[in-house]
This record gives sequence, C-alpha cells and structure tokens, in this order.
Amino acid sequence: MVDAPGRRGLVIAIDGPAGAGKSTLASRLARKLNYLNIETGAMYRALALKAIENDVDVDDQNALVDLALGSKITLEPLIDGNRVKLDNADVSTRIREKDVTEAASRVSVHPKVREWMVNKQRELGSKGGVVMEGRDIGTAVFPNADVKIFLDAAPEVRGNRRFYQNPVAEPSEAVLAELRARDERDRTRSVSPLVAANDAVVIDSTHMTLDEVIQRAEQIVGTKSREESGARASKESGDRVIG
Ligand code: DC
Repeated sequence: MVDAPGRRGLVIAIDGPAGAGKSTLASRLARKLNYLNIETGAMYRALALKAIENDVDVDDQNALVDLALGSKITLEPLIDGNRVKLDNADVSTRIREKDVTEAASRVSVHPKVREWMVNKQRELGSKGGVVMEGRDIGTAVFPNADVKIFLDAAPEVRGNRRFYQNPVAEPSEAVLAELRARDERDRTRSVSPLVAANDAVVIDSTHMTLDEVIQRAEQIVGTKSREESGARASKESGDRVIG
C-alpha cells in the first residue's frame, strides 16, 4: 500500500510490453473508478521529442538529464489516454510518430533518465487514486502498489494491434521486427528491465477481447478494494477497543 496524507484511492500499476493494450485498459479503468490515468511512456516520448528538436544525442545520458531538468512535461487526462504537453505545446500526436517511438526506446535505457522520470511519477501518484501505466510501475515506481497487473500478448497480436492503431500503412513484418527490437531493449536494459513483478497478476490477452481484459482487471481491482475496506473496518473497530 502507498501511504500518503490525504490518500484518496488505490494505486493501480499496469505494466507490460508495447502494443498489449495497456493504455486503453488504463484509461477505461481510470474513467470507471474516477481515478487519474498516467501514461508514463508519454513522458519518455516527450523527452525523446525534445532531444530530436534540440539535436541532442539520444545516447548521451548526461545531456538528456540536462534537457529533462529544463523541460516542462505535463500530462492531462483525456477520455482516452493523456494530452501531453512539452513546454506548454500540445505534442500528443507528434510523440506517437515513428522517429519519436524509436528515440523514446533509446532514451529510456539510461539509468539517470529513469531516475528523473521515476521521481516525477512518484510525485504524480503519491496521493493514490491513480492508474499508472508503463514498464516498471509495479517493480520500480510503486513497488508497494495496491494492484499490479502485467498485461501481455503474443508479439504477432501486439504487432497487429499497433498496426491497426497506426493510420500509416506499413508491412506487418516491418512493424513486427521493430516491435521485437524494442521489446528486446526493454527487457534487457540494466536498470528496471521490463519484467512482471513477483506479486503482479499476469493477464495474457492474446486470445481475449478488450472487454474481457477490462472485466478481468475490474475483478482484480474489486477484490483488492474489498480487502482494503475490510482491513480499514477492522482497524477502526480495533481502534475503539480500550483496555
Ligand atoms: O508505452 P510507450 O510505447 O509509449 O513507451 C515509450 C517508450 O518508453 C518505450 O520504449 C518504453 C519506455 N518506457 C519505459 O521504459 N518505462 C516506462 N515506465 C514507460 C515507457
């Protein structure tokens, strides 16, 4: 559990590889629960865009941290996902483009960049009432999250989902190859590699519809909410026992 004064709900961590449907699941859950939805990948993407715009080498860790320190990255909740602003400009669409996707994958391998991101993400989620989605939320950002879901799917399915989301026509083989390369980078980086937390519930959505995934996640969250209210109720009745 994440303890913070004025806590107003659970911390729900959703991790998993690219294209598994995390963003859709996270935004639907957040809307249902009236929680804040934070798409952490967008923060890496925004920094990658800033590097591209400023001609900063995405392999230069210190230059990236300097860039991050001088940047204002904000996420605003939308019905589906987040509106992303970089230094007050709306970059929500731009950060989904191919060059930024590739750069974000490289930006995210640097330990010092991750440290900066993780600190920001902890600030954003510290009060609870949040669905935070990414790669390392349950393992590094909120290791004590109330609910941890690891959403997975076979690469072929994730490649297709990405492909259908992306209006730019591309041969599926190329999409798949890129996805595999990014998976490899995510899973093998030295700091916070993509891995399910020991206490995460893994949902393999390969043969599931979106509605089925959402239902399963709601079950997991419902069980946890009941446990939390039970624990609170017994603590309160315990508090009243004197002597
Ligand atoms: O989820 P996404 O595709 O928008 O993420 C963009 C990149 O950022 C991706 O290469 C993985 C990385 N990322 C990360 O390393 N840790 C996170 N918590 C979120 C994203």
